[in-house]
Parts: sequence; C-alpha cells; structure tokens
Amino acid sequence: MVDSRQTSRANRGWWDGAADDYQVEHGDFLRDDGFIWCPEGVDEAEARLLGDVRGRRVLEVGCGAAQCARWLLGQGAEVAAFDLSRRQLQHARRIDLDAGVKVPVVQADAEVMPFADNAFDLACSAFGALPFVADPLAVFTEVRRVVRPGGRFVFSVSHPIRWAFPDDPGPRGLTSDRSYFDRTPYVERDGSGTPTYVEHHRTMGDWVGLIAASGLRLTGLLEPEWPDGHEQIWGGWSPIRGRNLPGTAIFTCTVS
Ligand SMILES: C[S@@+](CC[C@H](N)C(=O)[O-])C[C@H]1O[C@@H](n2cnc3c(N)ncnc32)[C@H](O)[C@@H]1O
Repeated sequence: MVDSRQTSRANRGWWDGAADDYQVEHGDFLRDDGFIWCPEGVDEAEARLLGDVRGRRVLEVGCGAAQCARWLLGQGAEVAAFDLSRRQLQHARRIDLDAGVKVPVVQADAEVMPFADNAFDLACSAFGALPFVADPLAVFTEVRRVVRPGGRFVFSVSHPIRWAFPDDPGPRGLTSDRSYFDRTPYVERDGSGTPTYVEHHRTMGDWVGLIAASGLRLTGLLEPEWPDGHEQIWGGWSPIRGRNLPGTAIFTCTVS
C-alpha cells in the first residue's frame, strides 16, 4: 500500500529530477504551444474534444511545461494550469519567455486544487496527474467542485490494458505477462525503501466506476488507433504495439 502522501512526495521528486530530460526528449513532439493528448498524436486542434474554448475559463491539470494551456491561450481561452513538479513549471516559464506569452501556473497537487468553486467552464489533463495519483476519486471530486455544472472534463491516461503487458516498445511488449486485474501499484524505491516513483493501476471498469461515484457523467471514451506513417516511439508506445493494442484512453465527462 502506497498512500496519497507517499505517492505525491515520490512523484514530485521524480518529476523534478526527470523534467529536463523529459522536455528534451518529448518537447518537439508536444510543441511549445501544441495540445497533444497522447503518444498516438491526437491533436486537440483537430479532435476538439473540449469543444469551443474561445472565451472559456479552462484549467489544465498536471500541465508539465503547459504546452496544452499555451495552445488554449492562443485559441482565446482564459487559462490556469498547475503541476506537482516545480521543475516542470520552470520549463513552462522558460517556454513562456521564449514565446512572449504568460501561462498562469501554480504548483499544486491534483488531489487538493487551490481554486474556488465553479471557477472554470472546462478542465483538461493530457496524461497529467491521473495516471499517477493514489486517489483519483479525490481528483474527480475536486474537478467537480472547481468546474461549474454543465462544464466538461476531458483527460487522457495510459490505456488500462497496457498494465498486463511489459512496458517495451518492441515485440516483447505484445505478450501479456501479468494480470490486468492486479491493482498492486508500480513502485520504485531508494535504498532505504522510500518510494521514489509510483503509478497506480485502474481497470477500465474502475475508471468508469470512479467517474460515476464522483458525480461526473461519462459522455465519451476515445481509444485512439496508431496512425499509419507515425513512427515516433514514446516509452512503451510504438508502431509495433500500436497496431495491435490500444495505448491511451481519453475520457470525456460532463459536470452534473
Ligand atoms: C506525462 S506528464 C504530462 C504533462 C503534459 N501534458 C505532457 O504531455 O508533458 C505528467 C505530469 O503530471 C504531473 N503530476 C504527477 N502527479 C501529479 C499530481 N498529483 N498533481 C499534479 N500534477 C501531477 C507530473 O509532475 C508531470 O508534469
């Protein structure tokens, strides 16, 4: 058992340490002011999962270097963004300075959001926070509090089926070697046994149940196919695996 406090502490340290390499490795693919939902390359400019954002108050959850928030700003949205990692937010500021824009960002944990009730019309998260947190119900409950009734929350996570396969972009990643139903979190620890990186697994049924339990209404689920001609590997996501297995789940919810 790794609780919320241990998970947040571990992942804050991990992302602070990994942020520089992460931005070097993935920055071009994400684009400084692009809104990419997943390694399959689903781009909000075409997908429009958030609908019309012009003039809308939009929150980005777990924003990293705030590439998505910067795209939203360019579309005429009023934006706020937050992330657990200070170093990721420093990258957001670096890009802002280069681009001559300013995305309002704050360091915070998705389980306790520092925003007023009904402060936003929309919220979004591209692999931010939800694949990692110990208590996604707390995140959904916070989204439901800060987004006004009738608003929308769209978020992407690793597709749950990936849990049952080795995280390998090659052929080895096509043979299941563990149980999809085993919710034991993936934990890396230092020499003293303290967690240094944590991912918690939810099955597809778990996600649907948690969304329903929070009072959000699930209105869409996209399982993007790997596009022909897309050769870029991202961790365990690759053309070889993408042809046979879904890698991402993008949930669209309405706040009731
Ligand atoms: C894979 S990145 C996604 C960010 C961005 N959309 C991108 O594609 O680079 C995951 C981000 O989630 C953040 N994160 C992890 N746990 C979080 C939490 N509990 N609250 C807020 N952010 C969190 C990490 O710091 C990291 O910046």
